[in-house]
Amino acid sequence: MKTKLLMIGPYPKWDMDDLETHYDVIKLWEAADREAVIAAHRDDIRAIATRGELGGSADLMRKLPRLEVVACYGVGSDAIDLAYAKANGIRVTNTPDVLTADVADMGVALLLAVARQIPRADAYVRAGSWANGNMHLVTRVNGKKVGVAGMGRVGAAVARRLAAFDCDLAYFDVNRRADLAYEFIGDLVELARRSDFLIVTLAGGENTKGMINARALDALGPDGILINISRGTTVDEPALLDALENRRIRGAGLDVFWNEPNIDARFNSLDNVVLQPHHASGTTETRRAMGKLVRDNLKAHFSGAAPLTPVV
Ligand code: 8YV
Repeated sequence: MKTKLLMIGPYPKWDMDDLETHYDVIKLWEAADREAVIAAHRDDIRAIATRGELGGSADLMRKLPRLEVVACYGVGSDAIDLAYAKANGIRVTNTPDVLTADVADMGVALLLAVARQIPRADAYVRAGSWANGNMHLVTRVNGKKVGVAGMGRVGAAVARRLAAFDCDLAYFDVNRRADLAYEFIGDLVELARRSDFLIVTLAGGENTKGMINARALDALGPDGILINISRGTTVDEPALLDALENRRIRGAGLDVFWNEPNIDARFNSLDNVVLQPHHASGTTETRRAMGKLVRDNLKAHFSGAAPLTPVV
């Protein structure tokens, strides 16, 4: 008998094929009545495979008395109730490291796209406007002051990339990192004030909720650009929309939002934003590595070994 695995959302075909070979996969996203499906399998489900943005609530875990492990496809486990998992001896794994470089690349790409107005320039060429005159001038990235909010794996990778653009880097985190030479600023508003560009790479969750608030945005100022490649929750989104609409900041590059995938329609009418569909890790190479790590974590757990990348 194969182990029963509850999947909250689909993975790419190559992962689905492999998972379905080794597990009895219950596809929750296909269920017309989710509660009925959970109730029908509740005593047999030993594992959950989820994705960063889909998470796993205490409410769901509570319904599965034989649940042993929750494997997350994504590094951010903020949507999984870790306290409940820990208190109930349920293992949680994630996919760190394998996605760091791609997410950092996206941070830099969004910064360049907003500052150099690449989507608007592309539209300018396609519309034939070039024949009537040159496009307006844009903003330089190289050599500017960049603040990184959250100096974890992704933050450090963003900083390394922008150091190669001769940017002047500083960062905010709960702790100074002794291994890094960048300037540490223990106050987020102060970091925003000294920055031309603020790149948000904070972990999600309650501790960082709304940290990028109206004060931080006003400190960033009318020439400032905000990039968010962390979680939508880290930014006070109404405050950001207000700052963008009233040009209290220059622009924003956003991969993450409060209400994904049905984001606030006000974003669509702004010409000073570049939007991404939570896709910073969305390359074939990285998604293959993420899927393999999820499968390896499950395999380790069910063969009695320690998981490769445990969260709790
Ligand atoms: C993924 C992410 O887009 O790693 C994370 O925390 O949010 C992303 O890499 C997501 O988890 C995949 O669905």
